[in-house]
Amino acid sequence: MVKPYVYVTRKLPDIIISRLRKRYEVEIWPEEEIPVPRKLLLEKVKTADALISVISDKLDEELFSHATQLRVAANMAVGYDNIDLAAASRHQIAVCNTPDVLTDTTADLTFALLLATARRMIEAADFVKQNQWKSWSPMQLVGVDVHHKTIGIVGMGKIGTAVAKRAAGFDMDIIYHNRSRHEVAEEMLGARYCTFDELLEQADFVICLAPLTEQTKGLFQREHFQKMKKDAIFINASRGPIINERALLEALQAGEIAAAGLDVFEQEPIAANHPLLALDNIVALPHIGSATKETRLAMMEVCCDNLDAIFDGRPPKTLVNKDLLSFRS
Ligand code: DGY
Repeated sequence: MVKPYVYVTRKLPDIIISRLRKRYEVEIWPEEEIPVPRKLLLEKVKTADALISVISDKLDEELFSHATQLRVAANMAVGYDNIDLAAASRHQIAVCNTPDVLTDTTADLTFALLLATARRMIEAADFVKQNQWKSWSPMQLVGVDVHHKTIGIVGMGKIGTAVAKRAAGFDMDIIYHNRSRHEVAEEMLGARYCTFDELLEQADFVICLAPLTEQTKGLFQREHFQKMKKDAIFINASRGPIINERALLEALQAGEIAAAGLDVFEQEPIAANHPLLALDNIVALPHIGSATKETRLAMMEVCCDNLDAIFDGRPPKTLVNKDLLSFRS
């Protein structure tokens, strides 16, 4: 029997490739750091039955129209803003993501980023490594407290709720803004629903965890940073384009907010000479929210499970375009 052909757009560990090879004909873009060139990807999808993709791959109408055999695109991320879902559905291609398995890991990173920014940990670590530490000094590298402050979470989904749990452990007041009320977080964690503006005005830490959609693109503009407290710290662990980065830069330069911790950027990777990176009050990370060995392997296993479901004729567990009711056999 001819095995279905799977194209994998980024190097994956051997253990995952071995699993895939048992059932599929597998071809892998061999690079870890360099994305598969668009032209090559368009060529590969012409004969692929399945695709394992990552967030830097743009899966759009052009790509899907080349993919005459493709039955599933398993995206190794919870976010799927790199995929035109309507186009996938038009072409009867199932799109799957990797929710749940990365919730706690991403919440850990988000909270770590908050702590690192508030306590100036990267700056302090560099200070030691660069041999600048000459003596203990009362006001040297002082940050701000996190415990007992107010955290404002924009986007109270699974990761937002997991961040709120961590905040409760730090005795923080938790406020949130979301499309809908989150009764469990309100009851269990004492989280209080606010309008967007109320949250901006009241939070000491504003945490962006909303998904990138047409509605959230450019959600944070200059006026929103101006509404925040002057000593507020802004954290983004969701998607860069939710923020107008120039507005954030200007707000930081003008002292309208105190600092920012960013795991995501409008353009990734961010250019090394980007003016944001020149600021002392920025902690910048290379989109590592879900980057632990355990979680990345779990995400890859979810992708494999979804492929297996499709080729067994079962509905995949984490199908995103749920309008797709029947799969091509
Ligand atoms: C996600 O899962 O959406 C992350 O941003 C990529 O790890």
